Amino acid sequence: MLQRMTPKDYSEFWERESSQFDSDKIYARLSGIAPAEATLEVGCGAGWSTLSLAASRPVLAIDNNPHLIERARARLQTHGATAEIIQSDLFEPSDDLLKAIEAFQPKVVVGWFIGSHPDDNDKRTPTDLRAEQKPKVYRENVEDRLVVAPLCPPSVEWVHTVQRGAVPPGVSETEIKDGMAKEYEDYMFKNTGFAVTDVQVLDWNQGATPFPYVQHANPNLPPGTPTPVIISILARRTSNV
Ligand SMILES: C[S@@+](CC[C@H](N)C(=O)[O-])C[C@H]1O[C@@H](n2cnc3c(N)ncnc32)[C@H](O)[C@@H]1O
Repeated sequence: MLQRMTPKDYSEFWERESSQFDSDKIYARLSGIAPAEATLEVGCGAGWSTLSLAASRPVLAIDNNPHLIERARARLQTHGATAEIIQSDLFEPSDDLLKAIEAFQPKVVVGWFIGSHPDDNDKRTPTDLRAEQKPKVYRENVEDRLVVAPLCPPSVEWVHTVQRGAVPPGVSETEIKDGMAKEYEDYMFKNTGFAVTDVQVLDWNQGATPFPYVQHANPNLPPGTPTPVIISILARRTSNV
């Protein structure tokens, strides 16, 4: 029987996964897509993403997993980089976090590879949801919070979200980009005053690490092996709602 992943286990998996992303220059690519202005990073993970962002802009990061925060702080220190990391659950922002956001006045909010361990997934998703659906619903719940206060105060002009995906055989990159833009316009950015300005599809060297991703068999997709990809979605504020 599979062991349930603890917050510490999750931090160890994410250390391996994100160091592979760093080796594959994924964080360098993503930092080049996100505008280089004061950035609130939602979920610092093991700190590879924070390190990459902090090379070219001020960063305030939040995370609720103490094991990952410890890794991220150590990583920043080793590399002589600076970023403030606050421990808080984004669903229940602490007073320290609220004060730090108010003082920081972010221009950009990034939420890259949003996800967490099963305890978090259970806490923030319906109890009757099937286990394999929980990470997706959890991510969507977090994404909804990236576009509203307090994580997204009026100072924010850009929101950048990044996720893993799979391109079915025969589906073009243009179709994927158009489909993702529409999906995000419909469910994440609708009525928020943000609009998608850029979608990019990056190669994902998925086989390189043992992170246990759930694969869904979707009868509506063409047969054949899908190609793992990383999808970057950048949105800009177009109006204040
Ligand atoms: C998959 S990791 C990605 C980390 C980083 N963005 C990166 O690209 O390497 C997701 C991060 O979000 C954090 N996270 C998930 N749910 C959270 C919550 N409710 N509050 C604060 N942080 C959370 C996790 O602890 C983890 O560090």
